[in-house]
Amino acid sequence: MTDDRLKIAVPKEITNFESRVALIPALVQELTKLGCTVLFEKGAGIAANYPDDQYADTHFYPDAKSLYQEADIIFKVQPPLKQEISFYKKNSILVSFLFPNWHPSCVTALRDNHITSFAIENIPRISRAQAMDALSSQATVSGYKSVLMAANMSSRFFPMLTTAAGTIKPTQVLVIGAGVAGLQAIATARRLGAIVSAYDIRAAAREQVESLGAKMIHIDLQADAAGGYARELNNDEKIKQQNALSEAIAKADIVISTALIPGKPAPKIITQQMVERMSVGSIIVDIAAEAGGNCELTRPNEKILHHGVTIFGPTHLPSLLAHDASKMYSKNLIQFLKLFVKEGKLAIDWKDEILAQSVLTHEGHIVHQPTRTLIEGKEACLSA
Ligand code: NAI
Repeated sequence: MTDDRLKIAVPKEITNFESRVALIPALVQELTKLGCTVLFEKGAGIAANYPDDQYADTHFYPDAKSLYQEADIIFKVQPPLKQEISFYKKNSILVSFLFPNWHPSCVTALRDNHITSFAIENIPRISRAQAMDALSSQATVSGYKSVLMAANMSSRFFPMLTTAAGTIKPTQVLVIGAGVAGLQAIATARRLGAIVSAYDIRAAAREQVESLGAKMIHIDLQADAAGGYARELNNDEKIKQQNALSEAIAKADIVISTALIPGKPAPKIITQQMVERMSVGSIIVDIAAEAGGNCELTRPNEKILHHGVTIFGPTHLPSLLAHDASKMYSKNLIQFLKLFVKEGKLAIDWKDEILAQSVLTHEGHIVHQPTRTLIEGKEACLSA
C-alpha cells in the first residue's frame, strides 16, 4: 500500500472465549472521514456477526502478521500475546484493554518493542471522556447478561404469577456492588419482575439503587475513595460487612456479585458458610471472577455446585453479547482516537490528562507510574 494516510488495523481476537471485534462496519466511515485508512484481518468480525462483506472502504489481509506490518495504529479488545506484539511495527500505537496487573509480560513486550500503548481501562472517568469509557460500556453488557444467565440457570420464574394453577412468588435477587454493572443488573432483574435488593459500600450508590426501584441494604460502613471508587475494607470492617450481609444472602434466590476495587483482587464477601445457608436451587453469578471473585468458592468459568447452590464466575460476559458489545466498544475507541488524530495526522498532546493517564508504554519505557513500579520493581528484584 502506498498512500501516506494513517493506517488503522483491526485483527481477529485470538484469546479464548473472545468474540468481540474492535471496529464494526458502520464506523469505518468515521475513520475514513478522519483521514485514516482501515486495514482488517479477514473474518475478524464474524464471531460478532459482522461478516467481511459489510465492511466497505476496508483493505483486507489474510493474516495478522501481514496486517500488523502495515499498521500505524492497532485497535484491539484483549491484551495482545507476546507473539502478536513481535509482529508490530516499531513505534506503532496500540489502543486496547491491557490490564497490566494481570498481563505483565504483555507490558514488557510492548516496552521492549517500542510500541506506544494506551490502556483504554485507564481513561479517567471525567465528563469529557464519557463517550470513550469502555469500562462502563462493557460493564453495562456484563450486568445485563449476568441476570439473563442467572434466570436461565434458575428453575424459578422471576415475576410473580397468579394463574389457575396457583400463585408463583417472585424471585428475590440480591446485587452486591452497585457500580455500572451492578446498576444494569438491578435494572434488568427489575424488568424481569424480580424483587431486587442491593448493597454497596459507597454512600452515593443508595440514591442510584433506589431510583431503579431496588431496596438498599444498610450497613453502617462507608468506604468512598477518590474518583468515585471504593477503598478496600480493613479486617474489622470486612467481618462487620459479612455478618450484616449473611442474612440477606441466605434469603436471596439469586445473588449477582460485582464488587471490585481498582487494581486489587476482588474483595471476598460471600463465604462458604454463607453459601451453605442459602436454599437449594439458589444461584450466585460472580462477575468479579476475573479478579478472583467475590465468593470464596468461585472458580473462573466453572459451574460449582455446593450444598445445592450453583456458583458461576463467567469471565467473558461482554463476549456473549458480542454484536452490541463491539458496537459500543468501537464507538469508545473512535472517540478516543479523535483526541490524537487530526486531519489524518498524529497530533498527540501529552498534556491532555486523558492521554497522559491512559498511556502505558512509549519510546521503550513504561510511562504509567504504578505499572512501572509493579513491573520494573519485580525485574529489579529478579536481577539482584
Ligand atoms: P467497579 O467496577 O470498580 O466496582 C463495582 C462496585 O463494587 C463499585 O460500586 C464499588 O463501590 C463496589 N464495591 C467495592 N468493594 C465493595 C464491597 N466490599 N462491598 C460492596 N461493594 C463494593 O465500579 P465501576 O462500575 O467502575 O464504578 C466506579 C465508580 O465510577 C462509581 O462511582 C461510578 O458511579 C463511577 N463512574 C463514573 C463515570 C463518569 O463520571 N464518567 C462513568 C462510570 C462510572
